[in-house]
Amino acid sequence: MRSIIELKNVSKRFAGIKALNDVSIKISAGEVVGLIGDNGAGKSTLIKTLVGVHAPDSGSIEIRGDHVEGWNALKARNAGIETVFQDKALCPQQSIVWNIFMGKELTFPFGFVRQKEQVKIANRLIREIGLTSELIDAEAPVGNLSGGERQGVAIARAIFNEAELIVLDEPTNNLSLNETQKVFDFVGNVKNSGRSVLFIGHNIYHVYDISDRFIILDRGEVIHRLNKQEVSSAEKLMKIMRDTIKGH
Ligand SMILES: Nc1ncnc2c1ncn2[C@@H]1O[C@H](COP(=O)(O)OP(=O)(O)O)[C@@H](O)[C@H]1O
Ligand SMILES: [Mg+2]
Repeated sequence: MRSIIELKNVSKRFAGIKALNDVSIKISAGEVVGLIGDNGAGKSTLIKTLVGVHAPDSGSIEIRGDHVEGWNALKARNAGIETVFQDKALCPQQSIVWNIFMGKELTFPFGFVRQKEQVKIANRLIREIGLTSELIDAEAPVGNLSGGERQGVAIARAIFNEAELIVLDEPTNNLSLNETQKVFDFVGNVKNSGRSVLFIGHNIYHVYDISDRFIILDRGEVIHRLNKQEVSSAEKLMKIMRDTIKGH
């Protein structure tokens, strides 16, 4: 599979804590990867390093096979890697259209926004990921949407920004089962469109259902890499996780 991003032997420390120790991971085109591990295992740090929020202390980063110096958030975005942070990054009093185009509005000369065109594109994007309901109006405030639907808007925005890899850190935290299912449907559609997803979830059952393979982190190190075919059920995955924690 064609590589999108590869972290090679990456380490990251915070004031004496080794949050990541010699971690190597590769994310390829068209796959959903579930990142799991106990609290404090380093999942968020790994993701933040991957999206350029943190610069690694050591190790290297390759984008589509080419080494990149001075990795940062701008380089990650330009490389087609987008993060969906909870719903904090959306502006609830603004419309779906506004939130998708934020800062990248289509304009006529003299700066008038081409609203009709934007509405059309926004509707196409939200349909593409499966955010469809006759009740959803692209020009209505995002604040009217449910938690899961807001995640959908954030994912639609990432697609609008030409993301090839969408990174989600616990996107279903605090969501009801019904809302969680919506987010999974969106992720499934993202995968079907040929894009990749890196997904952190605290619920192993959710992660199991949605992922093609799993990376288990423990105290800053990758301790397991498993394809879904190697793990016959979510219970098995849970057991592997439990055995790891018990081993401490
Ligand atoms: N910005 C930070 N400053 C200091 N320590 C941090 C920071 N971010 C994470 N850590 C520490 O690094 C370790 C890994 O944290 P984190 O990546 O958030 O784990 P996870 O997401 O798996 O729960 C923890 O011990 C945490 O306290
Ligand atoms: Mg975390």
